[in-house]
Amino acid sequence: MAKSAILGLGHYVPSKVVTNDDLAQRFETSDEWIQQRTGIVERRYIEESGIGASDLAVPAVKNACDDAGIAVSDIDAIIFATLSPDHFFPGSGCFLQKKLGLPGVPALDIRNQCSGFLYGLQIADAWVRAGMYRRIALVGCEVHSTGLDFSNEGRDVTVLFGDGAACAIVGPTEDESRGVIDVEVHADGAGAELLWIEAASSAHDPRITHEMIDQGLQYPNMNGKQVFRWATEKMPEVSLSVLERNGLTTADIDLLVPHQANRRINELVARKLDLPAEKVVHNIQRFGNTTAASIPLALSEAIQQGRAKQGDLILLAAFGSGFTWGAGLCRL
Ligand SMILES: CC(C)(COP(=O)(O)OP(=O)(O)OC[C@H]1O[C@@H](n2cnc3c(N)ncnc32)[C@H](O)[C@@H]1OP(=O)(O)O)[C@@H](O)C(=O)NCCC(=O)NCCS
Repeated sequence: MAKSAILGLGHYVPSKVVTNDDLAQRFETSDEWIQQRTGIVERRYIEESGIGASDLAVPAVKNACDDAGIAVSDIDAIIFATLSPDHFFPGSGCFLQKKLGLPGVPALDIRNQCSGFLYGLQIADAWVRAGMYRRIALVGCEVHSTGLDFSNEGRDVTVLFGDGAACAIVGPTEDESRGVIDVEVHADGAGAELLWIEAASSAHDPRITHEMIDQGLQYPNMNGKQVFRWATEKMPEVSLSVLERNGLTTADIDLLVPHQANRRINELVARKLDLPAEKVVHNIQRFGNTTAASIPLALSEAIQQGRAKQGDLILLAAFGSGFTWGAGLCRL
């Protein structure tokens, strides 16, 4: 059975920088509150209306193909992880496939929020091992900024999120010294309503009403304390589990690339895993939480900055809405 590897990575963020002070112009918050609670200094938003998740993904995929040394036309499958799709249906993968000019190439959308990249990596790894595809574009991409509540009611969530895209090209490798080692993912729907968007909903007839809009049900709603508690428990737990089942320990890890939801969460996770600060990637200060894009974006940057190099053992870990969580191990 062929082993899979991340053959290339690329990312793209829109040019519009939105600082904490910019947000403080729109609702009651402060740079100090946001930095102290989350570590976020600024995030990116799309420059103008009309740019959807699939549009942001196009340059990220092209950058990943360049990094992998392949042409876009070599891509033989797309996995698109997002919670902010261009439309209710069809999936953003289909829009991306059209924009990349890849007619006939299968496009799978997955909706696993902040754990989307890890769920996608598990699927891509299995497809490669089964010999089904050789050049999978695994995309994580979000346009959050068009769906946030910029009133005081939504400020706890709105300060967290930013727009961004990243892509990993996943394919087979013969090289024994590199590759995806394992990915473990979980979910617990008991937490589904602790971080969610209630409407539009197929369970409502009609799916959305003016009344629901007046109540703000179209905006993300979060119990931040519960999410914090679960994330700091589940991310270390699943990280240790995936290490243990592969006969490894945290001492073997060269770099932890965690989902970027809150710097305090990741510092606590690193402490629980006994990992020194220099082995943990943080870029939340510049991008906020880009959900499905955050892990590949952080890994792509870490490689560009020389913090991760070929042969390094990388631990990926995420927790998010669903609740969903997971951890992955790969050698670059
Ligand atoms: C969101 C989060 C930063 C809030 O921090 P917290 O310490 O739990 O803060 P609380 O929600 O208890 O709010 C404390 C106070 O700050 C206020 N507040 C909330 N958001 C604010 C903001 N953006 N600016 C200023 N004040 C804010 C609250 O209204 C509350 O005021 P009160 O004490 O007068 O009622 C924190 O809970 C968190 O990061 N949770 C995890 C979220 C996460 O990771 N989500 C993504 C998952 S993938």
